[in-house]
Amino acid sequence: MLHHIGTKTIETERLILRRFKEEDAKDMYNNWASDDEVTKYLSWPTHSNVEVSRKLLEMWIDKYISEEIYNWAIEVKENNSVVGSIALMNVDNNIESCEIGYCIGRAYWNKGLITEAFSALIKFAFKEVGFNRITGRHHVDNTASGRVIEKCGLKYEGTLRQVHKIKDGSIVDCKYYSILKEEYRG
Ligand SMILES: CC(C)(COP(=O)(O)OP(=O)(O)OC[C@H]1O[C@@H](n2cnc3c(N)ncnc32)[C@H](O)[C@@H]1OP(=O)(O)O)[C@@H](O)C(=O)NCCC(=O)NCCS
Repeated sequence: MLHHIGTKTIETERLILRRFKEEDAKDMYNNWASDDEVTKYLSWPTHSNVEVSRKLLEMWIDKYISEEIYNWAIEVKENNSVVGSIALMNVDNNIESCEIGYCIGRAYWNKGLITEAFSALIKFAFKEVGFNRITGRHHVDNTASGRVIEKCGLKYEGTLRQVHKIKDGSIVDCKYYSILKEEYRG
């Protein structure tokens, strides 16, 4: 059985993964949510102003009341900016599985930051919550996301056709990957 503990703070070499606060709205808007390149393959539309970010954060913060919500702000230790988000979503208590989702501002791409956060969450999910399976998936064209998933040790399982709707309304193919508790070496 899963041992849910909610969005606990996790520290890595360069990052603090922590709960979102209302004050993060400006960073969210400026660093990633207002950028069409960041949302290119995602289901949600680019935020048109900081109020959209603020409202979304209010909703997310209210949800922390549940210990089954795993939704972290990615704070960079170097400058204390919040630069992205990472979450364990679609928690299935029956088969003890979840899916990981993430995004980070363009100024912070290709520095290994999502790989660092993702690796820490794999450890958290298996060791602290007791998940048995973590799924990773990405739009077939989002090769950077695929590279992150592979670097984190997930195995490619296949491509599902027309399984995900992105912000422009098109329904696209996604590549699916997973890692199982029995494969995790720490
Ligand atoms: C995808 C994303 C999360 C990657 O985050 P990141 O912090 O830059 O990832 P990392 O630096 O840990 O690793 C990126 C890897 O992808 C590679 N990469 C970058 N752009 C690439 C491209 N166009 N094609 C192939 N590989 C690419 C990098 O070289 C790096 O691999 P390497 O370490 O072997 O050199 C980030 O680009 C992002 O937030 N994109 C927008 C939101 C999004 O797409 N989220 C994922 C939804 S599934």
